[in-house]
Formats: sequence, structure tokens, C-alpha cells
Amino acid sequence: MSHTDAGVLGTIGGTPLVELTELAPDSPIRTFAKLETHNPGGSIKDRSALAMLRDRIADGRLVPGRSVVVESSSGNLGIGLAQVCAYHGIRFICVADPRTNEQNIAIMRAFGAEVEVVTTTDPVTGEYLPARIRRVRELVERLPHAYCPDQYGNPLNPLAHRTTMREIVEALPGGLDYLFCATSSCGTLRGCAEYVRAHRLPVTVVAVDAAGSAIFSPPSGRRLLPGHGAAVRPRLHRDGLADAVVHVDDLDCVVACRRLAIREAILAGGSSGAVLAALDRMRDQIPAGATCALIFPDRGERYLDTIYDDEWVAGHFGDVAHLWKEPEPMVGVAAC
Ligand SMILES: Cc1ncc(COP(=O)(O)O)c(C=O)c1O
Repeated sequence: MSHTDAGVLGTIGGTPLVELTELAPDSPIRTFAKLETHNPGGSIKDRSALAMLRDRIADGRLVPGRSVVVESSSGNLGIGLAQVCAYHGIRFICVADPRTNEQNIAIMRAFGAEVEVVTTTDPVTGEYLPARIRRVRELVERLPHAYCPDQYGNPLNPLAHRTTMREIVEALPGGLDYLFCATSSCGTLRGCAEYVRAHRLPVTVVAVDAAGSAIFSPPSGRRLLPGHGAAVRPRLHRDGLADAVVHVDDLDCVVACRRLAIREAILAGGSSGAVLAALDRMRDQIPAGATCALIFPDRGERYLDTIYDDEWVAGHFGDVAHLWKEPEPMVGVAAC
């Protein structure tokens, strides 16, 4: 292990893969969830953060007390970078936006990061992302020894996820048939898909995007939940990475997350709900006996004031609690 992976950073990766046994007990398919919340910073983006900084720290391009890392993030990557930078004593500025939840900002600050919140949306797209990226560029130009990892275009981001995929494959000696993967920078999707293709694995890769996101179709509508989806197609995107694409809206994420909490006792973030909702949408097409892996990118504690807050849910979607409180909502879907 190199110095850059020492201490708490040495615990990034190697997350558990657990079988979902309660949501659809009679289903003829087996479903496993990769719990990326078990990374020390609480999300899958710890892997990308370490991968994008590791070599630069090791070879002295990033130096404590002199260098500054600047990145745009709505939360999880920011927390991952804040953690790596804190460990190595490197200054970190995260450019966030009003959709970033307060708790994520507090976590980054606890790691010693500086957090700048852009307050105006891009005049053309009405989105915060272009404004965040513009502010990152300004900071990098202005600050000496500044470096932007650029998660949307950095090939080290997807490279980090070849390990994610390898871990899933190694944990399933009986084989894997379907992988469901949420998308934003496309780092996870691309890294996993490239591993699958390089090893000629017979795995159907399903990309799960937020409804309204710009990754696989023209953007439309406002999205409430941060994390997955993107306002601009990331440069890491390539045609053909996914065998299928499923779009999931905010309400479907909420319902799937609440079911996961109640039935599987897993408190997961919005994009984890999205991948579960995508699997449910595809259940009828998946043959009996198939094994599916779902990547759950982060933890539910970061959504206690949204997804897991009854008032917030009712305020945005109305009286929908029956959607996750029904006694056997998913049983029988694939039992025939
Ligand atoms: C909660 C959550 N889910 C999914 C993703 C998508 O991951 P990727 O950027 O690798 O496409 C992210 C990325 O930040 C995320 O924070």
C-alpha cells in the first residue's frame, strides 16, 4: 500500500455486497446491493476522489501548504475530496449550489474544506451546474498552484470503478447477469461497463438516470434530488456504455428508498432508490434464475430532511405514503 492510501484512506473500497431478501421474497431473480455507504466518507465518490488525487500527491504535484484543489460538487465527491485533502494537509475549495444539503456542507467544513455556494443559475439552461463550473474555472485561473480534478472529464474517475466492478464479480462466483448503475459524471457507469467489456462478461449493463437529466436525452424539467443525473452531458459519457437506460423520477426514488428502509432495513440515498425502481421497471423482462447487482451510491442520513421527511414528501408529491406502506407491493410481479 502506498503512502497515499494509508490511514483511513486505506479503507476506501471493499464495500459489502448484500442480498435483498425481503422486498420480493418470491421473486425468481436474486438481487444484491453493493453498499457504497460503507466507504469512510459515506459514498461511492470516495473511490473517485482518491483515484483523481493519488498520483499527484505521490509524485509531488500536489504539495501540502502550497497546492489547492478546487472542484464543483453537490456533495458526495466534495466530501470524498475533503477527506483525502484533509488527510494529506492540502487546501480544498468546493463549489456547491443551493441544492447541496446543509449536512453535506457541514461535513466538508468539518474536514477543513472551504465551501463556496453559487447562488445564481446559468441564464441559458436555468441550471446551477454551468455556473458552478464557471466559478471553478475562475478560481483555478486566479489561485496559484490550483488544480481541478474535473470529475466530468477525468479518466481516473471511471478507472476507479473498475475495482468496484471487480469486487462485485468476485463476490458472485455463480455469475452476474444484470448490473444497475446510477449516473451523473458517468464515472461509475463507464468504469463498470469497461470492466465488463474488457473481461467479456455476459452482463447486461443498465444505466439509471434521473428523469429530466441531460445524459441520455435532451434535458427537461426540474429535479429535486441531488446526486444522480446531470444538467449537461459529461465528457466521460460514451455511446454504447449501457445496454439499456432507465429514467426514474423523484417520486419513484422516494418510494423505493422508503420501501428499502422499511422492508430491507437499508437507509439509502436517492439514487439507490432510483436503481431499485429501475429494477422493478425491468422485472418482467429479466429471466427467472438471473442474478442482478444494484450499486447503492450513498447513505440515507444525507436525505433525512427530504426523502425521509414526511412533510417534505407530502409538500412535493401529496399524500403518497400508501405507496410504500402497502403490505405486499412487489410480491407476485415476477412470481409467475
Ligand atoms: C448519490 C449519487 N448517486 C449517483 C452518482 C453518480 O455517480 P457517477 O458520478 O459515477 O456517475 C453520484 C455522483 O456524484 C452520487 O452522488
